[in-house]
This record gives sequence, C-alpha cells and structure tokens, in this order.
Amino acid sequence: MRETILVVDDDPGHLTTLKTLVGSWGYQVETADDGAAAAARVKQGPVDLILMDVRMARMSGIDALKEIKAYNPAIPIIIMTAYSSVSSAVEALKAGAYDYLIKPLDFDALQLSIARAREHAGLKAENRQLKAKLGAGFHADNIIGRSPSMKAMLDMLAMIAPAEATVLIAGESGTGKELIARSIHFNSPRRDNPLVVVNCAAITETLLESELFGHEKGAFTGADRAREGRFEQADGGTLFLDEISETSPTMQAKLLRAIQEREIQRVGGQQTLHVDVRIIAATNRDMTKEVAAGRFREDLYYRLNVVTLEVPPLRRRTDDIPLLAQHFLERFAVKNRKAVKGFSPQAMDLLLKHEWPGNVRELENAVERAVILMTGDYITEKQLPIAIAAAQDGPSPAQPGAATDTAAGPGNRPLETIAREAILAALAAADGNKSEAARRLGITRKTLHNKLKQYGEM
Ligand SMILES: Nc1ncnc2c1ncn2[C@@H]1O[C@H](COP(=O)(O)OP(=O)(O)OP(=O)(O)O)[C@@H](O)[C@H]1O
Ligand SMILES: [Mg+2]
Repeated sequence: MRETILVVDDDPGHLTTLKTLVGSWGYQVETADDGAAAAARVKQGPVDLILMDVRMARMSGIDALKEIKAYNPAIPIIIMTAYSSVSSAVEALKAGAYDYLIKPLDFDALQLSIARAREHAGLKAENRQLKAKLGAGFHADNIIGRSPSMKAMLDMLAMIAPAEATVLIAGESGTGKELIARSIHFNSPRRDNPLVVVNCAAITETLLESELFGHEKGAFTGADRAREGRFEQADGGTLFLDEISETSPTMQAKLLRAIQEREIQRVGGQQTLHVDVRIIAATNRDMTKEVAAGRFREDLYYRLNVVTLEVPPLRRRTDDIPLLAQHFLERFAVKNRKAVKGFSPQAMDLLLKHEWPGNVRELENAVERAVILMTGDYITEKQLPIAIAAAQDGPSPAQPGAATDTAAGPGNRPLETIAREAILAALAAADGNKSEAARRLGITRKTLHNKLKQYGEM
C-alpha cells in the first residue's frame, strides 16, 4: 500500500506542482489549501506525512502543526518556509516539526527529507516498545546542570536533537560546546552512524580543504594517494565543525555550497559526490559581530544558525558550580584512587566566588589538581589554585592577627612551595610523563628536570 502524504499550501500553483512531483516519487498525495482543512483531514483517517507551508492566509502552519501534533504526535510534519522567516522554522521545530525546508524548494532535499522522515517514523515505532521497557528517553546524563539557563538549553537540546536541523552552538571557551554536540548526535536518529569532529582553527586553509573534502591522487605535492574527506566519513552521521568562525572567506564559500547542496568535490577531483550529513557548528565568538564586521558570510551564518544553542558561561549559573564540582570530584577520586568525601565549606565558598574565565574546563582542572594534592578527607582551600584562593575575602595577609587558615592559604606560602606542589601535581596528572607535565606547566623539560633535582625528587 502506498503511503499517504498530505500537502498543505494556500497557493494553488505550488499545490499542483508539489502534488505532481511528490506523486511521481510513488506516494499517494492529498492536498489541503489551509491549516484548518489539514487538521480536519488528519482527524478523518490515517496520513503518513505532512508537508506544510508556514505562512497561509487562514490558519498558520504553526497553529495547524500544534493542533495536529496534539491530535497525533506520530505524524512527521515537514515545514516549508521562506528564507526571510527562519525564526518561524525554529518555532516549528520547537512545536515538533520533523524538518523544515527553505523556499524556493530544492526538490532533491525535499525527496531526501521525506524519505528520512518516513524511515525515522518507522524506527520510532519499532523502538517505542523497547524504549518503554527500558524507560529510556532523551539521554543527557553526562551534561550536568540544573540552573534555569542550563535547563532551558537542555530542553531546547532535547527538542532539536531528533530533528535534522543544522545547529549552531555558541558559548565561551570551556562551556561544554563539544559535549553538547555529542549529545545532539547521540540523541538523533543518526546515532549509529559516525560523528566526525573537525576543528577548523587547528589547521591551515589548504589543509582544511583536503581534510574536509578529501583529495584525489596527485591533487598536490605529497598527495600520493586519494583520501576521503571528513564530509564523506560523516556520511549518514553528523559533522561537527568546531570554531567555524575561524574559517577563511574562500573556505566559507566552499562550506556554504557543501551545506546547501549536500554535495562536495574532492580537491583535484572532477566528480560531484553526494553526502548525507547533519551539520553542527560551534563558535566562541559573537557571530552577529563577525557578520557585521564582514568576517563571516551572512548567508552561511543563516544556513548554520537555524537553531542556535547559547551555552551560558559558568559565572552566570553559579547554581551549577557545586553540582559540577561534586561530579568532577567523584570522577577524579576514582581515577586517582583517593577516598575523598567532599569540599570544606571554605573551599566551596571560593569555588562559588570565582569568576571562572575558563568556565567548566577550568573548574574540572581545578578539581583534578585538588584531588591529586589533597591528603585529608576533604578538599580545602589549600588545594585550590592560587588564582581562586586569592579571590578569598578576609583579613589581609599582612595583618598579624590573621586567622590561621587564611595565613596558611596558597597566597601566603613561599612561591617555591607552591611551585613544587604544582610541579608534582602536573607530574602525577601526566602519569609521570615529564614532557607532558612540562607542557602542561608551560615550562621546558629541562627546567622541569632541574626543579625535580632541586626538590630531591630524582
Ligand atoms: N555541563 C557539563 N557537565 C559536565 N561536564 C562538562 C559540562 N560542560 C563542560 N564539561 C566538561 O568540561 C570540559 C570542556 O568542555 P568542552 O570541551 O565541551 O568545551 P568547549 O565549549 O568545546 O570548549 P572550547 O571552546 O575551549 O573548545 C570537558 O571535559 C567537558 O566534559
Ligand atoms: Mg571545543
């Protein structure tokens, strides 16, 4: 039996074109010329998929979508929207649309989206029973955060992960952008296919091109054999483009084409290759500023930010600090085989007061270091990095009557003692690897060697 697709548009011309086109792909096509008629049709009998315009004279596509979803949430709905109203696309995704397509329609993209939606619906039906058994739903257990801003972000994440939409993740360094990208992939229908990560800032423009698109044998000096690029490797899965703002104008033009057409060409190649990838991009810059300054193409920006996830900096969600600190404490206690009970109140106070310019990563590193250095049951302010401990309020060190715990704080001990601790901690963290420890400390291996000798550690 052929599947029924309901096409909804108030433009009779579009309706006819779509009916013929979608019908030619083997589907049974029905039409409706407004949202209310579509909602009424759904209540009369089974429909397998709906293709709907957003802007319609009587009932808007969004309202119809909400009504249909309330009646039968299992019907995948693909929304068609004008380029100028991407915000309504976001609204549609939030309301449960499966995908959105920008007008004028790219018919290949439409056919692909319909096929995927049908496959997805089938998978969903198959998985429903299993999921109910396991009590499984959206998994973001490894993302810690209960502050209102993180909760809002996680809600949005749960909503957009199963959709096909391109996502732009914006946030300061160390806020968890990569963790979020992974979570989107593993909560999407693409989870069993590869997640490929490319840091666009880490390599030069020429290398980046062959890295992303691959190259043919002999494309350039040293290309002694053909190699597939990251787009090809991510086929059927997700491509995470980290630090997207750092790409050159030429690269941006190439990316735009690849994302728009889902087509690529290897460097030195003639053949056009079709790739099925979902794109997630990340940046720690303010993209609207990059666009305004002419450093980032506006059209590429709009392609990428259909859905933007803003990850708040840690200093704006201090509620999450104790949770994260405890989470890292448990992890590093196990890793370092230490029986740690928790943080002293003074230490927690310092963690809460610190500004965390390096965000969650900085907190993670601070806790790891503290776990390595600690000797008692609790992490105290003594084990926290100098910068954090220095933020402590209280009697000035010069005052003779200063409380003893303050006087013993890292800011009040000889530099050499602190340096010794830092060096030993780095060495422990690097599992005794001296080159790695030196790298982490930002000193040469020779300096590290000399220091260790001086401390009588070797
Ligand atoms: N909400 C969170 N819950 C648990 N761990 C987190 C959270 N956010 C970040 N982390 C951890 O902090 C570290 C930094 O996160 P991640 O690499 O994802 O940040 P990023 O935003 O990509 O940083 P950068 O811009 O520097 O690349 C990782 O080890 C990650 O696992
Ligand atoms: Mg990152």
